Amino acid sequence: MTEPYLEVRDLFVSYGQIAALRGVSLHVDPGETVCVVGPNGAGKSTLMAAIAGGARAQRGGVYLAGQDISSGKPEDIARRGLSLVPEGRQIFSTLTVAENLKLGGFMQGNAGNARWMMNDLMDLFPILRQRANYPAGRLSGGEQQMLAIARAIMTDPQLIMIDEPSLGLAPKIVDQVYEILAEIKARRGVTLLINEQSSARVLKYADRIYVLRGGQVQLCDRAENLTDGEAIKRAYFGFDKEGV
Ligand SMILES: Nc1ncnc2c1ncn2[C@@H]1O[C@H](COP(=O)(O)OP(=O)(O)O)[C@@H](O)[C@H]1O
Ligand SMILES: [Mg+2]
Repeated sequence: MTEPYLEVRDLFVSYGQIAALRGVSLHVDPGETVCVVGPNGAGKSTLMAAIAGGARAQRGGVYLAGQDISSGKPEDIARRGLSLVPEGRQIFSTLTVAENLKLGGFMQGNAGNARWMMNDLMDLFPILRQRANYPAGRLSGGEQQMLAIARAIMTDPQLIMIDEPSLGLAPKIVDQVYEILAEIKARRGVTLLINEQSSARVLKYADRIYVLRGGQVQLCDRAENLTDGEAIKRAYFGFDKEGV
């Protein structure tokens, strides 16, 4: 059996009195695409923040390739091969597309040896080559999401975490984003952890799905066992097991 690439064990994270994660355990194997699906406020972003070193756990642990990273700094965790595409993209709208990409390598702490050279990236994202000298704020929502993903892979990460890539995008554009993620996977063999509010797309692209609600994992299964959507719906809305 291969060791999980990422393992989260019994994680508790609170903001003051608000308990955002209440005993979350999850794992991601090398090369997998795992999706965390849950309603607004479920704790999805907190989970990614805790993994990436942006939020501290009161209890539990996070392990990357078997090493405890629970108290690591974000830049150290990034250097170990983990890259986060934050909710709402957070690109620099007044900087150009190319500048945003360069900054991506820099923010990860190793601009000098960013292994994903700009050219490779632009081959993968032709639209970014066309728009290289545009201010990023002038890109469409879908293009901005592509840029945020491209920025995250500047340092050739092994694990990319993407917080709600579908947010605010038309269905056709969401498909394009997922197609490009599949392409990145095929070319680079990266492991993906993706948060989404809706399971519609992820059922097609994910290997496994976790449903998170109220800071707890309600359901975890392989995507092919969840295709009818019923189990996800029950876990997502907290319906009685007998069905409502
Ligand atoms: N910075 C914060 N301060 C206080 N409460 C927060 C903060 N961020 C998130 N929360 C709360 O933690 C819970 C989980 O939020 P979040 O992780 O953003 O969920 P999701 O990403 O699934 O929408 C919610 O109750 C939210 O209101
Ligand atoms: Mg969120």
